Amino acid sequence: MVVFSAYVFPKDFIFGAATASFQIEGAWNESGKSESCWDHITHFTDKIDDHSNGDIACDSYHKLDEDIKALKELGVDSYRFSISWPRILPDGFSNNVNPDGIRYYNELIDKLLANNITPLVTIYHWDHPQSLQLLGGWTNPRMVEYFADYARVAFEHFGDRVKQWATFNEPEKFCRDTIWGEGLSLGSVALDAVAPYLCAHTILRAHAKAYHIYKNEFSKQNGKLGIVLNLTWYEPLTNTTKDIDASNRKLEFEFGIYAHPIFTKDGDFPKVVKERVANLSKLQSFTKSRLPEFTEEDINEIRDTADFLGINHYTTSLISDASDEIDLFTPSTFNDIAVNYTIDPSWPASEIFWLYDVPWGLYKALMYVKNYTNNHPVYITENGFCEEAIDDQGRVHYYQGYLQSLSNAISDGTNIVGHYAWSLLDNFEWYRGYTKKFGLYYVNFTDPSRPRTARSSAKWLKNFIHDVKSNNL
Ligand code: NOJ
Repeated sequence: MVVFSAYVFPKDFIFGAATASFQIEGAWNESGKSESCWDHITHFTDKIDDHSNGDIACDSYHKLDEDIKALKELGVDSYRFSISWPRILPDGFSNNVNPDGIRYYNELIDKLLANNITPLVTIYHWDHPQSLQLLGGWTNPRMVEYFADYARVAFEHFGDRVKQWATFNEPEKFCRDTIWGEGLSLGSVALDAVAPYLCAHTILRAHAKAYHIYKNEFSKQNGKLGIVLNLTWYEPLTNTTKDIDASNRKLEFEFGIYAHPIFTKDGDFPKVVKERVANLSKLQSFTKSRLPEFTEEDINEIRDTADFLGINHYTTSLISDASDEIDLFTPSTFNDIAVNYTIDPSWPASEIFWLYDVPWGLYKALMYVKNYTNNHPVYITENGFCEEAIDDQGRVHYYQGYLQSLSNAISDGTNIVGHYAWSLLDNFEWYRGYTKKFGLYYVNFTDPSRPRTARSSAKWLKNFIHDVKSNNL
């Protein structure tokens, strides 16, 4: 341990920056890549605030040297990026591997390593081939095999150099609102109250299958494989039992639904999730719970299938119990969870509605994860603020506070091994299009050459990393 001012980081702590394929690559139909579900959503619906798409995005497909230059300038140890499934398997299946897709990621990985930057590769960050969406997307149990085959192709081609893999990014998020091909939930019982649980069931089995393939077939590669879960901190609004239970329930439905089967001795979905969905389903006259059951074999297959946990943490929200306000007879995941959200008006706001600067929430989230996972190694795989100004003092303030909280949590015994800023670059922010900026680097999207410019926060982080490292020497 080395103490730098008030900050404490282990000697081999990893600092990184993160992106995702659909949000930065562009080249949406170049060199053999097929349409992804997000190409489809952006081209055929009006769900995107500025009606934009990922056709060009940051053009990182053609500008990987510039991305690496920015990473180098920041002085990070690691880069977290994702692979585009339709770029390497245009049909969705492993019988047809696209050589140019393989070439692109090989080049990226080789150049990173040549610059002493280690890759952390997310296998799936929301952009599966549209052809698989037409087969039902993640509600189709066959996706377990298709995903496992896809993961195998990734291990085969890149695993000699990639030693850190994450199977899925934020499954809770995409199971809730991005899997329908049309974007956001469509207001039907099937989509609001059934599909998110089918999706969770499929994802957990797919993750476990990929883990076993990696450990059984690629043990020689000697790498680590984990999963990335979203974890907002949910603080009870009051100290009444009702609000405390409500915030626990919200954490279990958002984080526990994925973490419990993988990281606890018991395995399986959390008790509160199983009980609530079963009870409400009964009341709503379903013949069985809307939450699919795992077999004993599934539970054993899924338990203990992560060498590390990635958490994406941005913010905190205050939770109160909404049990008295909901109509129990209307099936929906919202009613299953039954909580209301609010914030403290004194919290500094970002430029996106859900994100406030609340550094103590990170500390609490990390302590919660420590207990939940029995102190498993954790990467903070995303953490960042939304602000457009080049002189982004709000983001600087955010990172000062969050890195302080992180350092406090490390001093207090959490097993946090790395921190990745979201994001290296401004990029396509899903339903918000290009209207919301998360980049350490500003990208001018009106200029065809998409120039990148360091924001104040990039300079601040660079100095911070440099200072921590030089004190670590
Ligand atoms: C989490 C997602 O993984 C990422 O894709 C997104 O851009 C950030 N949150 C910010 O909303």
